[in-house]
Amino acid sequence: MGEKQILMIPGPTNIPPRVLQILGEPAVGHRTPGFSKVVKDVTEGLQRVYQTKNDLFILTSSGTGAMEAAVANFVNAGDKVLVMENGNFGERWVKLTTRYGANVEVISGPWGEQANPQALRERIEKDVHKEIKAVYVTHNETSTGVRNDIKALRDAMGDHPAIFIVDAISGMAVSPLPVDEWKLDVVVSGSQKAFMLPPGLAFISVSPKAWAVCEQVTTPSFYFNLKAARKSYEKFTTPYTPAASLILGLQESLKIIEEEGLENIYRRHDFYKKVVRTAVKALGLELLTNDEAASSAVTAIKKSANLDVQQLTKIMRDKHNVVIAGGQGKLKGEIFRIGHLGYVDVNDIIVTIAALERTLKELGWEFTLGQGVATVQELLVEGER
Ligand SMILES: Cc1ncc(COP(=O)(O)O)c(C=O)c1O
Repeated sequence: MGEKQILMIPGPTNIPPRVLQILGEPAVGHRTPGFSKVVKDVTEGLQRVYQTKNDLFILTSSGTGAMEAAVANFVNAGDKVLVMENGNFGERWVKLTTRYGANVEVISGPWGEQANPQALRERIEKDVHKEIKAVYVTHNETSTGVRNDIKALRDAMGDHPAIFIVDAISGMAVSPLPVDEWKLDVVVSGSQKAFMLPPGLAFISVSPKAWAVCEQVTTPSFYFNLKAARKSYEKFTTPYTPAASLILGLQESLKIIEEEGLENIYRRHDFYKKVVRTAVKALGLELLTNDEAASSAVTAIKKSANLDVQQLTKIMRDKHNVVIAGGQGKLKGEIFRIGHLGYVDVNDIIVTIAALERTLKELGWEFTLGQGVATVQELLVEGER
């Protein structure tokens, strides 16, 4: 009986039965009035999740496609851009902007800590000739389990004319990111995270300030050309064939999100963060990040002495049917990660911690069996969840 797996990775996430049902429905024509109504409806739903009146487009791609759109449409070769890098996905911004020929300057920070707003402020203040055209940041650095302080980073820019571009792929609908209030020019996210869908859709919002930049950019783009997306959206459609079934599924997942309410969703994820972190510590394991920096979407746990984290994730998956993640980039083999975003409930977390305990026992880790689960139970009783 190996098929009943739970996904506790930071995306793709588990899918609610209501969404699965829609995904299983017959294919639909995407150039029809009915489907245009759906496109309009989901775009407006996404704008509510983003808390923005900015234009927003649905792309048929994984999240990296939207990241590519956020480079190709806003950067000319030779433009100076600044990347705040404190993990694997910050590095992706570096690779992408470099590939497009930008003059990339990187403010790197330790993996496991938040990006430093003061370092950004100092660099921006030095840019008296306003050479920096764009600043790229990551909301939730999935590779390290760190939530960067986007408001503080944006505030550090003051009224510098550079556009501010956020990868919120794993942070949107997990932690607050009010796009208009915080003046975020371009924000990307993806379907397989807190939107509770399979991979295949990415979303991108564009502020009027970012459009003004886009109008000046001559970098060629085709599939990810946002002007083409804007033109098509006048008729509530997309330039190329969209993943129509996923968009129908998105309509349902947005309903689920609206029924729960964003504030409740943020609170629920914060609670999972607390529960997982407390349970893991009760088992004698060490966390990569401090409480303040920690993500509410994913928890990163350090490899402790004698503990083979690759073996640990394998046993969790193959023997206990709980899929968790290893480390990425330079943290490969150094950490393991438990995702707790999207369609997750406390039962999933109890099962995960119970499976982790059995795995740790198998690996010879010394602790009192039941200690992690007991901790979760205590927090649940306290939190009345
Ligand atoms: C923060 C972040 N950025 C970018 C990506 C890349 O997205 P995708 O794998 O959908 O292309 C991910 C995926 O895990 C992510 O978590």
